[in-house]
Amino acid sequence: MKLLIVGASGMIGAEVLKHCLAHSEVSKVVAFVRRELPGEATRDQKLEVIVLDDFAAWPQHILREHADAAGMIWNMGSYNADRSADLDYPLAFVESMGRVLQSMTARPPFRYVQLSGKWARSDQGQRLWWGEDARKLKGLADAKVLEYATNQPDIWKSFVVKPGPVGGGPRLTPDVPRSWGTDMIASLLGVRIDELAAFMTFLAVDGRGEDVVAENGHIASRGRELLKQQGEH
Ligand SMILES: NC(=O)c1ccc[n+]([C@@H]2O[C@H](COP(=O)([O-])OP(=O)(O)OC[C@H]3O[C@@H](n4cnc5c(N)ncnc54)[C@H](OP(=O)(O)O)[C@@H]3O)[C@@H](O)[C@H]2O)c1
Repeated sequence: MKLLIVGASGMIGAEVLKHCLAHSEVSKVVAFVRRELPGEATRDQKLEVIVLDDFAAWPQHILREHADAAGMIWNMGSYNADRSADLDYPLAFVESMGRVLQSMTARPPFRYVQLSGKWARSDQGQRLWWGEDARKLKGLADAKVLEYATNQPDIWKSFVVKPGPVGGGPRLTPDVPRSWGTDMIASLLGVRIDELAAFMTFLAVDGRGEDVVAENGHIASRGRELLKQQGEH
């Protein structure tokens, strides 16, 4: 099975990439990046890295070549309400890949997994007391990718994943260095990065029985269960 991934250079995306590469049912992972990926992962035989110039304009020939993928895990995102990263780029992918799939012979729906956040809000009229722009942008992107799947059930399935603070990675956010404090906050309000990555990988590989929106508590408990199962094999 082939999977696609965006945002593999990020804290969460790097862990998701690791889990995809390690998954027994995954034979190939194609990572779309804006600059070459550093490190160990790039030496994995299963990995192909494609450097894209513009995430708003997906070249047809690239999408066609990878339209046999089971799904995409979208880990790109900002912390400062960057409209391109949080809204325009994911929607450009969904619509462009959707058009390619519509022109192809029948296949199981493409599974698109979007990394969002616990505090994202889709109601654009709601007054939010902190982080309004960032939370509404992410919420709008969530609503749009779910709406796309509702309108295109034969070709598309969207999952939106809403973790709280993610701990256990090299850093909690780019501005907050990892410490016992940040890891403790994550364990109380959020999710461990390996649980999140195991869960997101499962959604793209299979996803059966899962709701289209996953909240933090479910991500953590299902992620733990998946890691335990993997440990048993
Ligand atoms: N970390 C948490 O605790 C947490 C919790 C809940 C939700 N989230 C959300 O999850 C997302 C990822 O979090 P993270 O901690 O993994 O962030 P991160 O380490 O900053 O990674 C962000 C990823 O997005 C890519 N990216 C950002 N802007 C881009 C742009 N304009 N064009 C192309 N690529 C772009 C980055 O690529 P480059 O490496 O090329 O810059 C990187 O791969 C964020 O939206 C965040 O709000 C995070």
